[in-house]
Amino acid sequence: MKKLRLGFLASHGGSNMQAIIDAIKAGKLDAEAAVLISNNSHSGALEKAKNEGIKHFHISSKTHGDKEAETIFNILKEQQVDLVILAGYMKKIGDEVLSEYKGKILNIHPALLPKFGGSGMYGMNVHTAVIEAKEKESGPTVHLIDEYYDRGRILAQTKVPVKEDDTPETLAARVLKSEHLIYAETIQKIASGEIKL
Ligand code: GRF
Repeated sequence: MKKLRLGFLASHGGSNMQAIIDAIKAGKLDAEAAVLISNNSHSGALEKAKNEGIKHFHISSKTHGDKEAETIFNILKEQQVDLVILAGYMKKIGDEVLSEYKGKILNIHPALLPKFGGSGMYGMNVHTAVIEAKEKESGPTVHLIDEYYDRGRILAQTKVPVKEDDTPETLAARVLKSEHLIYAETIQKIASGEIKL
């Protein structure tokens, strides 16, 4: 059977992308890393894709002006991407990609959606809000992206404890560790047919 071709979009460190690539290399995930697109020329994600010998592109409104969304769409199509994997991508997805890949765009969010999602809920803001709300647990959510962002179908969640002395940073680190497991596992469930998109 043809392997799922993954197209990554990432803005920062790229540790989730790396964890998925590592799962492929370890034989735990039956998929291919086809391409990485980053809007940030200094992102760790670009560096990691380069090191892994994966096709990579820097595409932003600075480099491509109003052709940014169209260029991203064209690359995903050219690289025959089956699943779009958002891994810390800080920009909105263009309408063309949203409609062509409807139900095939995954995101990982560092909290238990539907709580702590939506406007302003990114990066450390999420973990700060979880601690301020005195939640006992948090953890990553893998979900589908549609035009409403953090409201798409939830595919998987892992719970991790929130400790009394947690800072946003210590909580973020604990959640990130579990992100690295759950993202690859969820994609594997899609590849095997256990999760139907
Ligand atoms: C992760 O915490 C993810 O949940 C969020 O952005 C962060 C990306 O980290 N969407 P990395 O770039 O994968 O290291």
